[in-house]
Amino acid sequence: MGNNFSYDFFKTSADYVLSRTGYQVDLALILGSSLGSLSEEIKKPIVIDYADIPNFLETTVDSHAGKLIIGDLGGKKLACMSGRFHYYEGYDFEQLVAPIRLFQLLGAKTVILTNAAGAVNSSFHVGDIMLIEDHIKIMGASPLRGQNIPEFGPRFFDVSNMYSKDLRELAKKCASRIGMSLREGVYFYMSGPQFETPAEIRAIRALGGDAVGMSTVYEAITAAHCGMKVLGLSLMTNMAAGMLDQAVTAEEVDETASLTSERFKSLIREIIEEIS
Ligand code: HPA
Repeated sequence: MGNNFSYDFFKTSADYVLSRTGYQVDLALILGSSLGSLSEEIKKPIVIDYADIPNFLETTVDSHAGKLIIGDLGGKKLACMSGRFHYYEGYDFEQLVAPIRLFQLLGAKTVILTNAAGAVNSSFHVGDIMLIEDHIKIMGASPLRGQNIPEFGPRFFDVSNMYSKDLRELAKKCASRIGMSLREGVYFYMSGPQFETPAEIRAIRALGGDAVGMSTVYEAITAAHCGMKVLGLSLMTNMAAGMLDQAVTAEEVDETASLTSERFKSLIREIIEEIS
């Protein structure tokens, strides 16, 4: 019943990574669909294939690279996942805790989560970047289901400030410094891999969602459990289903992500420099 992972199960992954790097990190970053090129800017990179990390997961999505990159960026020691894991790949939510627990054991106090998302709020445009203010996940179990591991956090925990207000304020300052405007709103999780129906999008809007996507929430919940601060940034790669007279396609998602990745990268670079 539930999961049978122990603290040592996760520690084995972290010990392997630490044996390759020899140092702890300040900060962690998960790069979403087609945003992986930021990892090329990491200085003195130590690149570790997910497949080499014991007790870790393997990525199955083409636009996700499947590498952990550890090195220096903006004066910080950073662990960066280029390629993330999703429920639609066949993992259980309980398995999707692995990246955040690895980051926590590597010493990260803060994690930046990025993703591609569909815009549900009709005042948003393709290419906009949204600060995640909060999320709605009404699909499926919690990633924390199963036996609690007290070394990571308590059985019951607060998620009322899961996406740190301080980090959102910092992100806004960084954005205005580089002449960018940011949206702010609620990320609504859908399990995919199909995009949504127009009726689902109307329901999501009625429930308070501003953007829709297939990732991030289980990572944010796991981070909240172990006391890490979270900053979430969503790139609006498309208008959600039914909002325009056209289909939602993976090609459009990838194309928008690559066209806007420079802006997204400058913002993240600026934020990493400013984060304490
Ligand atoms: N729906 C769900 N996930 C997504 C979308 C979408 O429209 N665009 C990018 N990721």
